[in-house]
Amino acid sequence: MTSKVRTNMPGDKNQKMILGAFMQAANCSNYAASWRHPETMSDFLNAEYFQRIARILEDGKFHFAFIDDRLAMPGIYKDSVKDSLLHGVRVVKFDLIPIVMAMAMSTKNLGIGATYSTTYHEPFHIARLFATLDHMTNGRVGWNVVTSLNDEEAQNFGLENHLDHDQRYDQADEVMEAIEGLWDTWADDAIILDKDKGIFADPNKVRRLEYEGSYVKSRGPLTVPRPPQGHPVVMQAGQSSRGRDFAAKWGEVIFAIFKTPEEGKSIGKDIRRRAEKFGRDPKDIKIVTAAYAIPGTTPESATKKMELIESLATTTDKLTLLSELLNFDFGTYEMDHKLTPEELDGISGSRGLAEHFMRGDKEPTVSEFIEASNRGTIQELPVFCGTPDNIAEDMSEWFTEGACDGFMIAATHIPGAYEDFVQMVVPQLQNMGIVQSEYTTTTMRENLGLPKPLR
Ligand SMILES: Cc1cc2nc3c(=O)[nH]c(=O)nc-3n(C[C@H](O)[C@H](O)[C@H](O)COP(=O)(O)O)c2cc1C
Repeated sequence: MTSKVRTNMPGDKNQKMILGAFMQAANCSNYAASWRHPETMSDFLNAEYFQRIARILEDGKFHFAFIDDRLAMPGIYKDSVKDSLLHGVRVVKFDLIPIVMAMAMSTKNLGIGATYSTTYHEPFHIARLFATLDHMTNGRVGWNVVTSLNDEEAQNFGLENHLDHDQRYDQADEVMEAIEGLWDTWADDAIILDKDKGIFADPNKVRRLEYEGSYVKSRGPLTVPRPPQGHPVVMQAGQSSRGRDFAAKWGEVIFAIFKTPEEGKSIGKDIRRRAEKFGRDPKDIKIVTAAYAIPGTTPESATKKMELIESLATTTDKLTLLSELLNFDFGTYEMDHKLTPEELDGISGSRGLAEHFMRGDKEPTVSEFIEASNRGTIQELPVFCGTPDNIAEDMSEWFTEGACDGFMIAATHIPGAYEDFVQMVVPQLQNMGIVQSEYTTTTMRENLGLPKPLR
């Protein structure tokens, strides 16, 4: 079979499709109901659970695992965590950093992207943490930069309310300037380690940062030498216009959710256009989108698997997760209540996503909101269901048409969904020559075809 090539994308026409895994640091995936799947592992409060997933992904030559995060248990819905706990709606969220280390220690090539909030962590702390991780993993770390979403998170960090949407991004711009500045306080060759002369490092190659913005102040230098990747790979998923500007300014792997290739092409065009405005080369931006893959030996067996998976979601899952995402308590209204523009003004989480769900409807009911968002169901993301051949064909079409540079595969059950994907779909994609069959480089950045940032 001849290799497929891409026709209308910036950069290398022979670039391979990026494969990432969209994970949570818990026994569920983006699909909260996945913990109820009969084949999902229940023994997850240990490192081996995450290491097993990491090894499966590495067997499938995934570029990276990507771990989502929130700094609070879902508790916006009915102003309580009771339903979330009772129904297991993403209540466990381990700290990601030890998980990154556990996964990295059981693999050699897999990249690992971890979410960390610019709103609730000091830039010096983030810079030091990710620089350390990058050294400990020999350059296999990515940082998913988020500004966080809701008041529950604010209240865990001593605040009453979450910062205003655009203000969060203004602050995040400063955090990024400070962090990238801190990573660059050391030159790559600053360490000399000449025992005979007693010289450890060249002081001319390590500088203070002296960063002072309206929100952020950090003097530097960082206490960690320059990361092996220069900067850990910067990942971002802003969806609103302000969020897209932020993503286009800083992001290298941009995580965008869309349901059709056409939508993907238009989002990609928009983000790359914004990136050019910031003086960036559009080919240094990789756009990945999330999807579920449900392969079966026959189309009928795949459909049967999907029906079981879909049956696991409950209305409570949907309302809890929608309230969490939009920082808005849908539990105070009846399902057929029409939300007025004034009520909708109270949405202060992901505004980009809220507008997307409303699709121009000025007064959607709660039910319509749930239905349009598909929150808490697998339909929230595109679902590729069928034989491995069908799935590989669909994915390759999205990729070669230029809808995305790759996919974040979300699991319907864990780790079985990744085992199925790696055993059934990856070989098909490899036969098409569309995904990598081996790791040919060392760092996550090189593997993604991203340049090392100059100091
Ligand atoms: C696919 C995707 C994944 C995201 N992952 C996280 C996450 O793990 N933690 C988080 O706090 N926000 C996450 N977000 C939220 C965004 O980073 C962003 O902060 C949010 O969408 C609000 O900005 P916006 O109004 O520009 O969309 C995610 C968003 C998307 C679309």
